[in-house]
Amino acid sequence: MSKTHPESRYVHGHHTSVLRSHRWRTAANSAAYLLPELRPGQALLDLGCGPGTLTADLAARVAPGQVTAVDHAPAILATARAEAESRGLTGIRFDTADAHALDFEDDSFDVVHAHQVLQHLADPVRALREMRRVCRPGGVVAVRDADYAAMTWYPEHPGLDGWLDRYRRVARAEGGEPDAGRRLVAWAREAGFAEVTASATAWCFASEADRAWWSGLWAERTTDSSFADLALAGGHATAEELRATAEAWHAWGADPDGWFLVPHGELLCRP
Ligand SMILES: C[S@@+](CC[C@H](N)C(=O)[O-])C[C@H]1O[C@@H](n2cnc3c(N)ncnc32)[C@H](O)[C@@H]1O
Repeated sequence: MSKTHPESRYVHGHHTSVLRSHRWRTAANSAAYLLPELRPGQALLDLGCGPGTLTADLAARVAPGQVTAVDHAPAILATARAEAESRGLTGIRFDTADAHALDFEDDSFDVVHAHQVLQHLADPVRALREMRRVCRPGGVVAVRDADYAAMTWYPEHPGLDGWLDRYRRVARAEGGEPDAGRRLVAWAREAGFAEVTASATAWCFASEADRAWWSGLWAERTTDSSFADLALAGGHATAEELRATAEAWHAWGADPDGWFLVPHGELLCRP
């Protein structure tokens, strides 16, 4: 593998508050745009698989096709492997990899998928070129990323405005692009895809249970996850400001009028 890849630091890390969000993800709520493309027997690469709930859902759809799941962080692969095994999916290969320099032959996969990964990379265009390289002719590259600046909520709350502003500053300081959803088409065109089909879907959190879950995990992420460490170390926030932001999340979550929208850009790209 090339050692000349660009550097970015994964802002969220894998704290339990982060994994509570990632482990909620399913093919239905996070990859619906890809599902019509999936067929039994396809070889699928899940890039930046994290804790692997999405990987396992996709693997069930392409079985008996070979699924390979890779992530930059070795520790999270054990979680992903356990998730797959708990569902009786024993054939998935798990390995470490850097999205900027994949250690696979050209034309290795029918489906190359990355969910919420490009936004964290120093060079998403280079990663998309790698995804195109390892995708067979006739195959599909599928990417989906949130767009932080397009997130919106009600009621308005200055504490949450501060959260969004600070999150975007920290993410960029660490080499990522938090407003990735709107940029996916431009990145895919630059990466040289012949055909790019764009769509968008959103997560919406408004029920009492959803508000409690979403606000609770973001409150904890704000004070206890890698994000908190990076915000403090980079001088983007004081501990007191982070605590105030967590309080703002709890206040929003307790409001029965609360509504939160997380929009995503998504692409199906043909090599
Ligand atoms: C937001 S999580 C998404 C996980 C999973 N795809 C999902 O949606 O549940 C992003 C994942 O990308 C991984 N990641 C970050 N930078 C990476 C890189 N350069 N190469 C491969 N994986 C990377 C992180 O370790 C993390 O597990």
